[in-house]
Amino acid sequence: MATIRFISSDVDKTITMPVPSGDRQTLLAIAQDHGVPILFNCDSGDCSACLVNVETVSDEKTGFAPLTDKEKYLLTSMVFLTDADVEDAEAGRVAPESRLACQYRPGGEDIVVTFENGLA
Ligand code: FES
Repeated sequence: MATIRFISSDVDKTITMPVPSGDRQTLLAIAQDHGVPILFNCDSGDCSACLVNVETVSDEKTGFAPLTDKEKYLLTSMVFLTDADVEDAEAGRVAPESRLACQYRPGGEDIVVTFENGLA
């Protein structure tokens, strides 16, 4: 089982879900399925409206979902990630803290997701 805790100024919700064995849902889809209001616009990795901060709290054996090409491009362009952050993530050393919820597909890691939804 994997645990995802969503935190914003008006949300603190923890969900537990089975580790996906096939296709993985995006974090945005998981949030929507559980009534967590993460902002989004394009839903295709092009706008950054769904930017979230992710703390990976499971041990390193669990690993973490890799950055997508769109995350690498957009998050380094906007300086939310450095090239060194991307290198560390690709080597599996350090989970990136900035993610795009519409691109990130959690793979079973326990995470704490912090976001601003503009509703507060
Ligand atoms: S909604 Fe546009 S990048 Fe995720």
